[in-house]
Amino acid sequence: MVGAFKIKGGKELKGTLEVSGAKNAALPIITATLIEKGTHILHNVPNLRDIVTLMKLLESLGMETEKIGPNSYKIVNNGITNLVAEYDLVKKMRASFLVMGPMLAHSKEAKVSLPGGCAIGSRPVDLHLKGFEGLGAKVEITHGYVEVKAEKLVGGNIILDFPSVGATENIIMAAVKAEGVTTLENVAREPEIDDLCFYLVAMGAKIEGIGSGKLVITGVEKLTAVEYSIMPDRIEAGTYIVLSAMFNGAIKVKGATRDHIASFISKLEEMGIKIEFNDGIATIECQLKDLKPVAIKTAPHPGFATDLQAQTMALLSLVEGTSEIKETIFENRFMLVPELNRMGANIHIDDHTAIIKGVEEYSSTEVMASDLRAGAALVMAALKVKGETTVTRIYHVDRGYEEIEKKLRGIGADIERIKVEM
Ligand code: UD1
Repeated sequence: MVGAFKIKGGKELKGTLEVSGAKNAALPIITATLIEKGTHILHNVPNLRDIVTLMKLLESLGMETEKIGPNSYKIVNNGITNLVAEYDLVKKMRASFLVMGPMLAHSKEAKVSLPGGCAIGSRPVDLHLKGFEGLGAKVEITHGYVEVKAEKLVGGNIILDFPSVGATENIIMAAVKAEGVTTLENVAREPEIDDLCFYLVAMGAKIEGIGSGKLVITGVEKLTAVEYSIMPDRIEAGTYIVLSAMFNGAIKVKGATRDHIASFISKLEEMGIKIEFNDGIATIECQLKDLKPVAIKTAPHPGFATDLQAQTMALLSLVEGTSEIKETIFENRFMLVPELNRMGANIHIDDHTAIIKGVEEYSSTEVMASDLRAGAALVMAALKVKGETTVTRIYHVDRGYEEIEKKLRGIGADIERIKVEM
């Protein structure tokens, strides 16, 4: 039996959806608590499967974790007592690999299983490892585990071949206590990386160039545990903005920042959607039937986020004319296409580009989430269908959307969590 959503779509949705704390900022920030002993307090942590998975991993390394509020955690670091992050915990989520940089900073040594994660591509970790080597660590890969060790970490000049989000984060966390100065070039510039840097700076780290493609990190001897609140989730915000467009702008989104998703917003504007941001609330104005098709290409930030590609596809399928989405970050991120086609969409894939011919409406059926964002897209499509749609394997959706069915019910959706045979 697997979890599923039974959705009776075609209802009028209207109201305000509020976004939770950012999963992709919370994950690295939680791993960063491994760097230094002390009592770390984090707020605005979303209640998600990925967070629970990571807390378990931290506990296995010797941390004491406690939920002290609806979205707050206390993490007590009395020293890392186990230097091995086991396969059983790491395989559940690729972001688990982010413990490696902090463990290296704390203990000069770590052994971490090679990661699993969403089935959206091969997702190697070579760039992470190249960075650790640039700080003087020795790297060995044996029996599915990566082992890193250093007598001491020393600042170095590291240029990433590609601006990988995870590699940038892992290397920053390893470098904050390295001896001397580290320059890190061609880094990823996602806002979640800024949030991690602001957190580390609050702890006493010296990082210059935050938000740019080049970071200069001057190692410090000691950091201090602090209290910190995670930024709002821009991908969740973008998801709800697309949903609003599918419902002619009847949904407002609270907790959205234009600068965090600027390329995405400008594409929606090109389609004919008006979006205004006031005091953290996005107001959307459009008529679905009047929207124009567009061509999108995903790219590292500040480009169009790959994490918003699937949801935008669910919208474009209902826009008259032919749209295109070219995926440049992950090779397998079109697994959504056959599922949307089962719902009546007309999409075909040509190499790394999805060609989307708009249809009048979706039709109800049973579909399966293949990854987190595809799952969100299917839920959105199902909300438009007059009839009952079942979206299975929603554990993917639970990895990234806090209380999604509760939030959607709050704006008038008929969505129920059920169990189905697979
Ligand atoms: C992060 C996000 C994920 C998002 C992705 C791209 C988190 C927890 N996850 O994932 O939601 O979709 O950024 O915005 O923040 N690569 C290598 N070698 C490496 C590392 C990456 O070749 O060592 C490649 C990957 O295969 C992929 C590309 O770089 O093709 C981007 O990956 P990366 O930016 O590292 O994504 P993640 O950090 O895994």
